[in-house]
This record gives sequence, structure tokens and C-alpha cells, in this order.
Amino acid sequence: MNIKILNKTAIALVANSKGILAMDESHPTCKKRFDDLNINVSEESRRSYREMLITAESLFNYISGAILFDETIKQKTKKNVPFPDHLNTIGIIPGIKVDSGAKPFSCHPNEKITEGLDNLPKRVEEYKALGARFAKWRAVITIGENIPSKACIIANAQALARYASICQEMDIVPIVEPEVLMDGAHDINKCFEVTNETQSIVFEALDKLDVNFSGIILKPNMITPGNKCNSKSSVEEISKLTIKCLENNVPKEVPGIAFLSGGQTDQDASNNLNYINKFNNNPWKLTFSYGRALQLEAMKRWQGNNNNILEAQKIISNRAHLNSLAASGKYDLKMEKNKY
Ligand code: 13P
Repeated sequence: MNIKILNKTAIALVANSKGILAMDESHPTCKKRFDDLNINVSEESRRSYREMLITAESLFNYISGAILFDETIKQKTKKNVPFPDHLNTIGIIPGIKVDSGAKPFSCHPNEKITEGLDNLPKRVEEYKALGARFAKWRAVITIGENIPSKACIIANAQALARYASICQEMDIVPIVEPEVLMDGAHDINKCFEVTNETQSIVFEALDKLDVNFSGIILKPNMITPGNKCNSKSSVEEISKLTIKCLENNVPKEVPGIAFLSGGQTDQDASNNLNYINKFNNNPWKLTFSYGRALQLEAMKRWQGNNNNILEAQKIISNRAHLNSLAASGKYDLKMEKNKY
């Protein structure tokens, strides 16, 4: 493990108000998104879509890293350039999702445990040879009746810690993603309580396995009410509770925190990040690692038709630009009116 390399990569991923593009949807998730828009599902349509994203003009001004999927890291552009090489050429760091998904958690109905530790050292080594310099592992915590159980949080935290340790040994920066889902009718205080406990147990597990905090990126959910909650929360409340939760749990050595969007609208994801940055007095950089809140509008415009590539690219670049402004507290909702 070379901590200088790890720290340098982690800092680069959150520098200059840039964020990380999550484009690592598994085949079933990608199929669902394509099916919703009547887009033909095939290896070539996934390749073509992802080429559209990573060749968008000026994307590199706002995006520091791109998280790829197993299939995507091995794909090439139409000009026969492997995706990781193209990304490196334009100054975007290639990364890779290495978990194999959230599966039913034994003896705990309605809860999930993320799997993928089997053969992980070998897989990380292969991805590193293909150009990956960072990785992602997503744990999923669900709020519901009598859940989450402490057992679910502990099991997921242990897997995250083991994954992080394996990555660091190979100088690959682990993105540690404990996602407390927005699904449900719970209020913002319940989200705070569960996320606070989850982050606390995750950092304890990382510490127990000697994971070096200066060589990781945390990818958490923001503190928001559930998507079926009757009472809405203000952007100020969301920002303050999100920062409070991080202050309770995240060591100062962690270079950066890159939020997931988790089902928020594009505007909410940008506006909340903007306010979080306005209120932040901590050493960590606070930025975005969005999937849906960066891509969905561009995917709708692309619609599986390569004649729409340029229009779709304008949309993804514009969204990345707005989120980059939010990462430095310079976003304003009024900017949403200036369409491309
Ligand atoms: P969303 O921003 O769509 O939540 O996706 C981020 C991600 O990478 C989930 O693992």
C-alpha cells in the first residue's frame, strides 16, 4: 500500500469543485432505465450510450472521475479507444464498481447485504491493469417497520471495510458508499438517526481494519425525509442535518465526501449540495457522485438514437456544470431556466 498514491488520487477526485459521474449501472438497472424509455437493450446500445456520456464536450471541466461497470471498462469508443484510455486522455480518472450487488440478508426479511468479496483481490488487480484507479462498493440500508436491524448495518459495514482494505493494498482508492435509502414515509429525523448510526458503525469497522482515512472517499446519502413522507423539509434543514451527521462521524483525514443523489430531482440534488457547501466549515471537500441526477435527462434526449447525441451531450455537460457550481456554493435555482 502506497498511501501517497492513495491520498493523491482521493484528493484529485474531489478537487476544483469537480464531481464523480456514476455510470456503473448493472445490467438489470440499465435495462430498467432503457425499458422505461423504450430504448433497445443490447451490449451495443449500452456501449453507445456510455460513449455518448464520456465524449460530451467540456465534461472534463466538471467531472473528475467516472465509475464504470465490468462490461464498460472493457468497451471501446467507435474510434477503437478503450474507455479508460479515453477518460485518461481527457483528464477523467477511471473507476470501477466492484461489488456484485445487494442480496437478501439471511434471517433478516426485507434487508440486504452487499456481496462481492469472493475473488475481490484478483478482480481489483485485473481492473487496475485495465486502468482503474478507484473503486466503488455500495451498501444498502432500508428504513421500514422494525428495520434496519443493527445486524444489517454491522454486516454491511464489515463488508465495506474488508473491500476498502483490499483496494488500498493495491493503491486503488475505495469509495465507501453506505446508502440509507430514501424509500418510505419516514421523516427527516428518522433518516438522520439511521444514517448517523450507519456512518458511526462504518467508520468503526474501517478503523478496526486499519483502513487509511486519507485514502478513501465517502459516498453517503444526504439527510432527507423519505420519498413518501407527508412533511417536506427545507433546504436549510437538509443541509444542516447532513453536515451535523458528517461532523459526528467522519474523521478529518478523509479528503472528500461525494454524495449520491438517491432519487432526488435534478434541481433538489443541485440545490441541496449548494447549501451544504454554504454551511460547511470542515476540512473535507463536499461534492457529488450522482447517477440519476446527472444522467436521466440526457438519456431521455438520447432515446437510443445516435442522431440525438449532440443534444444529449449538451444536457449532461450542463447538468455536470450546475453540480460543479453547487460543489462550490455558486449554484442558483434561477440557473435552471438557462437551458443549454
Ligand atoms: P444515484 O445518484 O442515482 O443515487 O446513483 C449513485 C450511485 O452510484 C448509486 O450507487
